Amino acid sequence: MKRLGCKIIQGKLEKELKEKTESFIMKGNRAPSLAVILVGSDPASETYVRNKHEACSRLGFLHFDYRFDEDVKEDDLLALIDELNGRADVDGILVQLPLPKHIDEKKITNSISVEKDVDGFSPFNVGRLCLGEECFIPCTPKGVVEILKYYDIPTAGKKVVVIGRSNIVGKPMAMLLMQKGFDATVTVCNTRTPSLKDYTLDADIIIVATGRPGTLGSSMCRNDAVIIDVGVNRIEDKSRERGYRLVGDVDYHSFEDTECQVTPVPGGVGLMTVMMLMENTFESANRRKK
Ligand code: GUN
Repeated sequence: MKRLGCKIIQGKLEKELKEKTESFIMKGNRAPSLAVILVGSDPASETYVRNKHEACSRLGFLHFDYRFDEDVKEDDLLALIDELNGRADVDGILVQLPLPKHIDEKKITNSISVEKDVDGFSPFNVGRLCLGEECFIPCTPKGVVEILKYYDIPTAGKKVVVIGRSNIVGKPMAMLLMQKGFDATVTVCNTRTPSLKDYTLDADIIIVATGRPGTLGSSMCRNDAVIIDVGVNRIEDKSRERGYRLVGDVDYHSFEDTECQVTPVPGGVGLMTVMMLMENTFESANRRKK
């Protein structure tokens, strides 16, 4: 097996983006800035938000963090987003998902101005992605493309199977790889697809984003397949100080004696997602140039 580690890609992209940011600021522009809204205290969301905050600090971006209790009113969130939409010193706005059940997630993400929607979740951005037009590409699919590029894995004419059809990963991932320039033949499966391996056994590249550990093992793949594991799952592990460990959606160890190329968890796609958010935020700042 070849391990497609992403720390090295993150380091390279971060160095490039830091240089671009320094030169942007040297030209008299304000540093790119990101506003992050977190509701409640879900430990995974807290970690993601901390990672985003730290990436902003390393790159010299400004960041504004907003925290709300679990029982926040929808109107209070909408009022804050409305204020951030109008602020000239904010380039990107991100509401960490998932939100508590009493909040309409769609209403919240749709209220973010399309120019500041660095997650790329708004119908406008999704529509432009479908049409192959310039837009904010959702961070995880954009990060997967960077992994394929870095490791020289071609997509043109290849059979790609995406497992998972979420709005955040599966759908935009499939949409992106079928575009001109990527030219893949894409099949989208989900956890209810009967006999998943009928599809995966035929695939050159398999992208797994189901949120379920063990979705894909080596017996379901060709011996030379490329496997991109988007899952980040916490499973109990009393031998660890923090009481859990992270695993992906792929049974990573089952690939050890194969010729497959596989992204690890941790150290894989997650690192890319944060970098792509930073790239989208820079892009937003660059469009505004204030
Ligand atoms: N929760 C899990 N992934 C994401 C993401 O990419 N963006 C936001 N806003 N929330 C998430």
